[in-house]
Amino acid sequence: MALRDLFELKGRAALITGGARGIGKACAAALAEMGADVALLDIHKENLATAVADMEALGVRAVSSLCDVTVASEVEEAFAKAVETFGRLDILVNSAGITIWAKGEEMTEEQWDRVIDLDLKGTFLCCQQAARIMIPQQSGSIINIASMSGQIVNIPQCQVAYNAAKAGVMQLTKSLAVEWAPHNIRVNSLSPGYTATEMTMTVPEYHAGWEVLIPMRRMARTDELLGAVVYLASDASTYTTGHDLVIDGAYTCL
Ligand SMILES: NC(=O)c1ccc[n+]([C@@H]2O[C@H](COP(=O)([O-])OP(=O)(O)OC[C@H]3O[C@@H](n4cnc5c(N)ncnc54)[C@H](O)[C@@H]3O)[C@@H](O)[C@H]2O)c1
Repeated sequence: MALRDLFELKGRAALITGGARGIGKACAAALAEMGADVALLDIHKENLATAVADMEALGVRAVSSLCDVTVASEVEEAFAKAVETFGRLDILVNSAGITIWAKGEEMTEEQWDRVIDLDLKGTFLCCQQAARIMIPQQSGSIINIASMSGQIVNIPQCQVAYNAAKAGVMQLTKSLAVEWAPHNIRVNSLSPGYTATEMTMTVPEYHAGWEVLIPMRRMARTDELLGAVVYLASDASTYTTGHDLVIDGAYTCL
């Protein structure tokens, strides 16, 4: 097979959580550009509608589900809709996530639960639903968006729940990679450094302090993550599983 054909995703079906904006939407567009049909899950109705139209404009089939990934019944329903529409599921990208900044000694139980529920439990629930479809298929690729915060501690903001959740996502990824390897299901994580999305652009006063700690002295653009997403989703990475791919401008080298 020609090398460029390994990246082809025509005929594949992908589901992307948090697909209505930011990194999730960028991943969905990249997979669509490579030919995959896409199902987008998010809690933001208007952004979902816009995102579906944007995907269709790329010439693929796109569906959406209003779905809170922390609620197992909603996740189950959304995955069922994707499979009813496309007949299969080849790729899952778990991108839905939040951070809440609060000092450890001041963080409320509710804040802790919100972050862990979404970033860690939500990721697990979606992996689980994907596996229930991919095991009978005996194929699939799951990409969990973790973060460099799974291995470093960001400053000056305090985000203990986020850092712990993302470290959890990395170990969840490795655990499921080992469990599901016999079923030809690959599970990898992608760990971006600071990336320009609404999550980070709403706090411009922090950027200079962050950038001085990044050897490349700038935040990433979402498009700088997409080659890696297509690699992990496609047949270019058939022996890559249980891996955390860090894209952080060398932040974690320091
Ligand atoms: N932006 C960064 O600097 C950065 C760096 C490393 C990792 N990440 C990770 O990348 C992922 C995406 O981040 P982003 O910057 O695109 O964020 P974003 O806030 O721009 O997008 C997140 C999306 O998730 C959706 N969402 C929120 N709660 C949800 C829920 N309960 N169920 C379903 N969808 C829900 C939101 O509506 C939104 O569309 C997150 O997991 C984040 O932790 C981001």
